Amino acid sequence: MIRVGIFGATGYAGLELVRILWRHPVVEIAFATSTSQAGGRLSDIHPQAPDFPLIAPDQAPLDAIDCALLCLPHAASAEQAIRALDAGRRVIDLSADFRLRDPAVYRRWYAHEHPAPELLDEAVYGLTEQARDRLPGARLVANPGCYATSILLPLLPLVSAGALRGPIIADSKSGVSGAGRTPQAHTHFVEVYENFSAYNVGRSHRHLPEMEQALAGWGGAGAPSLIFSPHLLPVRRGILSTLYAGLAPGWSPGRARERLAAAWADEPFLRLLPEGRLPSLMHVVRSNGCVLGMAEAGPDQLILVSVLDNLVKGAAGQAVQNLNAMFGLDETIGLERPELSA
Ligand SMILES: NC(=O)c1ccc[n+]([C@@H]2O[C@H](COP(=O)([O-])OP(=O)(O)OC[C@H]3O[C@@H](n4cnc5c(N)ncnc54)[C@H](OP(=O)(O)O)[C@@H]3O)[C@@H](O)[C@H]2O)c1
Repeated sequence: MIRVGIFGATGYAGLELVRILWRHPVVEIAFATSTSQAGGRLSDIHPQAPDFPLIAPDQAPLDAIDCALLCLPHAASAEQAIRALDAGRRVIDLSADFRLRDPAVYRRWYAHEHPAPELLDEAVYGLTEQARDRLPGARLVANPGCYATSILLPLLPLVSAGALRGPIIADSKSGVSGAGRTPQAHTHFVEVYENFSAYNVGRSHRHLPEMEQALAGWGGAGAPSLIFSPHLLPVRRGILSTLYAGLAPGWSPGRARERLAAAWADEPFLRLLPEGRLPSLMHVVRSNGCVLGMAEAGPDQLILVSVLDNLVKGAAGQAVQNLNAMFGLDETIGLERPELSA
């Protein structure tokens, strides 16, 4: 058995992790933490959750686990990661604290000094399909952001082959659970219901630097630039990203499709739909899938439409996929594949 501790179990990502791992045949949840609800039970807060006791993070028995799973806001997450690593535990962090390599970039986007810059080089950016070779030896895995996962998975095979010209325009829509459980005015029911709004468009969302860092790693000096515009959808969960990209000389839409199809053929959670079909949130909600459709917009232009569940493939599901890979298990254990009958 692999024993894990879940930090921030009352939040949306933490709850999803508890729900997935509760049924995982090889993983045991040793404890779940909450700062504000310590002493209570998870099912008192979320009636759909397993009846699990909640303990304060500073009371967590780190010697009882193999891996700490951190579902906390950034900064609070780094603090717990440092404690767990110092105690000799492995860590998967769902926050942004270890995604960026450069502490100066972290400071610019998160407005404080990184508390452990020496760990940034060591952290494995856990986009599982790209990182799986490095996961078995990893001590610290930075789970990617939900928007970033929906955008990077389709771009990975194309950018690493030099198939795209910049700028790539990523136009993304997310359900409201992407903003977390803490109430905020703009995610209030009355603001969101029957409404649809853009926010942090262009180059101002915090997921932009992790995406640019990944694209630069895959595409080198010729990596395409990115314009990213997120929107808030009046649904609970799911992300749909539409990507517009130019094709590099020598590439056609047909060749790009072949490249994507070959790269995704053996991936258990990634599906490329046949020509003429586009995905919807219904394909993926509650599964660990990312489903992609492709359309042409001229001989040298490509449109990609990618969908995933922000709480599963965009957070807890990808974390479990990484956990499985870190501990030498089949990556798919405990995770649902995307539904394709819709
Ligand atoms: N939501 C998504 O779709 C999504 C996707 C990918 C990544 N993420 C990342 O995953 C992390 C959790 O996101 P979430 O959406 O689950 O957030 P959330 O719903 O707001 O939950 C955050 C959790 O952290 C705890 N917490 C809040 N402030 C804390 C602090 N200062 N110190 C210690 N614990 C604190 C809360 O617990 P108590 O109040 O019970 O103490 C709560 O359980 C974030 O870093 C987020 O960026 C979220």
